[in-house]
Amino acid sequence: MVSLQKVIFFLWLFAKVGVLPDDRLNAAVGGTMIFTTTMSPTEKPFSSVNWSFNVSTPIIIFVINAENIIGPEYEGRITFFPSTASLELRSLTLDDTGEYTVNAVHDGTLLNGRTTLVIHEKVSSVLVNSSSTDLVEFSGSVSLSCSASGPSLSFLWLNGSSEVTASDRVQLTDGGSSLTIITVTRFDQGPFRCRVSNPVSTVISDPVNLSINGPENMDLISSPPQGYFAVGSDISLTCSVGSRPPAHFKWFLNGDQLPDTGSELRLMDVQMSQSGNYSCQAFNTGKKVFSSFLTC
Ligand SMILES: *[C@@H]1O[C@H](CO)[C@@H](O)[C@H](O)[C@H]1NC(C)=O
Ligand SMILES: *[C@@H]1O[C@H](CO)[C@@H](O)[C@H](O)[C@H]1NC(C)=O
Ligand SMILES: *[C@@H]1O[C@H](CO)[C@@H](O)[C@H](O)[C@H]1NC(C)=O
Ligand SMILES: *[C@@H]1O[C@H](CO)[C@@H](O)[C@H](O)[C@H]1NC(C)=O
Ligand SMILES: *[C@@H]1O[C@H](CO)[C@@H](O)[C@H](O)[C@H]1NC(C)=O
Ligand SMILES: *[C@@H]1O[C@H](CO)[C@@H](O)[C@H](O)[C@H]1NC(C)=O
Repeated sequence: MVSLQKVIFFLWLFAKVGVLPDDRLNAAVGGTMIFTTTMSPTEKPFSSVNWSFNVSTPIIIFVINAENIIGPEYEGRITFFPSTASLELRSLTLDDTGEYTVNAVHDGTLLNGRTTLVIHEKVSSVLVNSSSTDLVEFSGSVSLSCSASGPSLSFLWLNGSSEVTASDRVQLTDGGSSLTIITVTRFDQGPFRCRVSNPVSTVISDPVNLSINGPENMDLISSPPQGYFAVGSDISLTCSVGSRPPAHFKWFLNGDQLPDTGSELRLMDVQMSQSGNYSCQAFNTGKKVFSSFLTC
């Protein structure tokens, strides 16, 4: 019968285990951790409480008869909350990673709990490097790579304010730290930012803008519509183009540059001498495109 009593006693002990959360706790170097027990606040003091770290190492705090005995390494770094036997630990260092145990006796009942704390460095030095920032639309790919310091990093890319997802055109590699756009279009100007997280912090990189060059879909239209114009009529030529960044324009008559620079060229009261091959050149940093037609 003695052994049965023992078994019941240990079952009872086992049932009392767990006044601390089971899951692993994470905190940052330099931060603060509060080990909050699940005990409800009590008026009647605990007969004794002891908090210890990594079993074999010295105690953190031992409370008996309302007297606190604090381990020398913990002097000035802890606050003990007598009503719940909870503990605050400050100025955390990597050496504080380990197992924390509390044993408390209250009203003749032994309560204990155990939890694991992991201290992490915060994320730092987040940098984005681009294979190129000056690109020509549809003519190739661009890779952005994100680097950062710190443990347990996870990466995410932002395009403007939305998250970048992988697709036929977009590859995410190296654990998400590299972003490759296979065929760049003018809509891929960004700004792109890399968001790096670990269990204790998140850092977002500076934005990277891509300059996608190349006026495309160029069109030169006349008003009245293209054809032969009567001497003395007014003609307006408009050069239209889809371009980012916006294009600048140059106008030519039979290959000679005209002073005009806008997207529209106005010819008032045209004379025979103005007959010829008018062309518009639209350009931005990367690429030039021609379009032309004849007038008479
Ligand atoms: C405490 O224990 C953990 C493993 O539970 C170990 O990684 C850590 O180095 C120990 N810390 C100290 C200071 O002994
Ligand atoms: C902490 O409490 C437990 C349970 O009461 C006891 O076994 C252990 O010896 C105590 N440790 C210290 C350092 O007082
Ligand atoms: C950025 O990437 C380019 C090309 O991939 C490489 O040559 C350069 O060294 C990288 N710069 C840094 C700071 O990593
Ligand atoms: C970036 O966002 C723009 C506009 O929302 C979209 O058209 C483009 O495809 C996106 N590019 C990438 C690489 O996600
Ligand atoms: C990137 O583009 C945004 C708008 O899209 C602009 O506000 C920002 O100044 C640009 N940054 C750089 C470095 O060019
Ligand atoms: C008009 O000028 C453009 C640009 O110089 C040239 O490519 C085109 O062949 C010319 N057209 C005619 C009909 O001369």
